[in-house]
Amino acid sequence: MCGITGYIGKRKACQVVLDGLCMLEYRGYDSAGIGLFDEKGKMQVAKKAGFVSGLKKLAYDRQGCCAVGHTRWATHGLPNTANAHPHKCGRFCLVHNGIAENFAGLKSDLQKKGKKFLSQTDSEVICALLDDLYDGDVLDTMGRVAKMIKGSFAIAFLCNDFKDKIFVIKKNSPLAIGLGKDESFVASDPVAFAKYTDKTVYLKDNEMGIVDKNGLQLFDFCKNKKTVHIQNTNLFCDGDGQKVKSFTKKEIFEIPRALRHTANDFFADDKIISKTIDIFSKNDKVILTGCGTAYNACLVGKYTWEKVLRLPVQTELASEFRYQNPIVDKNTVVVAVSQSGETADTLQATKLAKSRGAKVVAITNVSHSSITKNADLVLHTKAGQEVAVAATKSYVTQILLFLCVASVLCKQSKAVKEIKKQIDDLPYLASKALLLDDKISKLAKEHCKKQGVFFVGRGLDYPLATEGSLKLKEVTYMHSQGFAAGELKHGSLALVDKNVLVVGIVTQKKVADKTFNALHEVSSRGGKVLVVTQFEKMAKEFGADGLLCLPGATDLLMPMIAVIPLQLFAYHVSVARGINPDKPRNLAKSVTVE
Ligand code: AGP
Ligand code: GLU
Repeated sequence: MCGITGYIGKRKACQVVLDGLCMLEYRGYDSAGIGLFDEKGKMQVAKKAGFVSGLKKLAYDRQGCCAVGHTRWATHGLPNTANAHPHKCGRFCLVHNGIAENFAGLKSDLQKKGKKFLSQTDSEVICALLDDLYDGDVLDTMGRVAKMIKGSFAIAFLCNDFKDKIFVIKKNSPLAIGLGKDESFVASDPVAFAKYTDKTVYLKDNEMGIVDKNGLQLFDFCKNKKTVHIQNTNLFCDGDGQKVKSFTKKEIFEIPRALRHTANDFFADDKIISKTIDIFSKNDKVILTGCGTAYNACLVGKYTWEKVLRLPVQTELASEFRYQNPIVDKNTVVVAVSQSGETADTLQATKLAKSRGAKVVAITNVSHSSITKNADLVLHTKAGQEVAVAATKSYVTQILLFLCVASVLCKQSKAVKEIKKQIDDLPYLASKALLLDDKISKLAKEHCKKQGVFFVGRGLDYPLATEGSLKLKEVTYMHSQGFAAGELKHGSLALVDKNVLVVGIVTQKKVADKTFNALHEVSSRGGKVLVVTQFEKMAKEFGADGLLCLPGATDLLMPMIAVIPLQLFAYHVSVARGINPDKPRNLAKSVTVE
């Protein structure tokens, strides 16, 4: 993981690079660093453990017009200052995103030659290798090093012999070059330079390049010249991003808008609709895959498609998919769901599916992301940029796209009409659920010290329980688990006592009384019960310790409405425990390593 930025031109490079890094903190925030040529042409490095804001205090005003920067998510070595990038070896100063899987062997060879290492990272080995092999021909050295490293890398480096150039290499990790007038940018994600230029070149795997103020020269690893394809990214740039108090809360409150945009865009695009119908009607097996929250959205997708279409659907964790020799062939459609479109596990799953002849449908929130390059059909969630690590608005839009697809594949025109009407009502219903915010804030203060929190539900409320639990874990560090309500009595009920909170999600009419039975079993063992439901009367009869009443809606809409109080609960518990929900420890927004 991690974010890389670079700048060469006439502006103060430190400012451009550090502002860009702030936009990329979703990719990691263990430490940050910058390498630059100062006004006298001297190579300098500044780095610091912690957020980019710490590094800004150290380096924001430094002079110089050429720099590379990095915000890290540690894979090899502690998240401390010594392991922060850039790494400097001899003439070179390098930032790296990815993993050099064979670093240990390369490192020990270099150590035998007398090379001393200052960090525990795999990345420093790449820098040392450049320095070791360099004979005056940088391009040749880059190609040789690139061929020696196994794993994934997006690399940007400076070389003391070329003070007006940034060198870049890419394999399996994203890297984009922004082209301006007499200036060029480097970034893991073009969002970092979107305010300066929308002319972007996305490096492909096994490409390397030389960036200077006049643009980019591109090569393969054997130094053969390659054509530069410029794309117009035209990204929305959240200019005041840094001033937002909490991205998590902001993004939860953007759910109604995200839902409206997603549905409107999908139904307005006849080409996408006919391609969707074409792909699904020619195939007889469907697999949904993703990681974390995206996987939880797949679980809802399975219920939705099986209910509406009576189509058997399989769900697979993308991180497991390619290790279990999945039964996938040319008659299979693999639907890969990923907010970022960069999750390594999900990308690998799509690559495997393609190699076996399957059709790949990508559901993603980032239109230029890596997953789109591998897909036969791309369905865009229009949630807008999601900055907070916890996926919130993207989750509901993923579920909405499953419902939209169901509506165009469904052959019963009455059902289609009904689903479309429900989708029209959805943003309003979501905004009503947001009104629970104050009440949830009080409940969060009451329960923020519980020993554990279980989420239970049946039918569509079960995948929702797993998502409510994941959200709480990641932003509050509390122990939590999501269960199918009927499973509690098969073992986990033994964990319940007065120190445990059980959140009962009851939105599905057919199974509501059954879930209340499970909740009775909890309260008779002294467990506290918080009910999230659209069935107020039943909940009052049950006598919950806390009650969050949702606006009434049909079963298929409920996951998108009921998740809102669960997300808000996680957010408020996080704040009550003194944690920054936007940047929970040990995590990153975009997980680009396997
Ligand atoms: C969500 O809150 C998590 N941060 C995480 O589970 C995330 O959903 C997962 O890493 C997948 O990310 P993606 O949607 O960008 O592929
Ligand atoms: N493997 C490198 C490290 O641990 C880079 C990790 C990243 O991509 O952030 O420093």
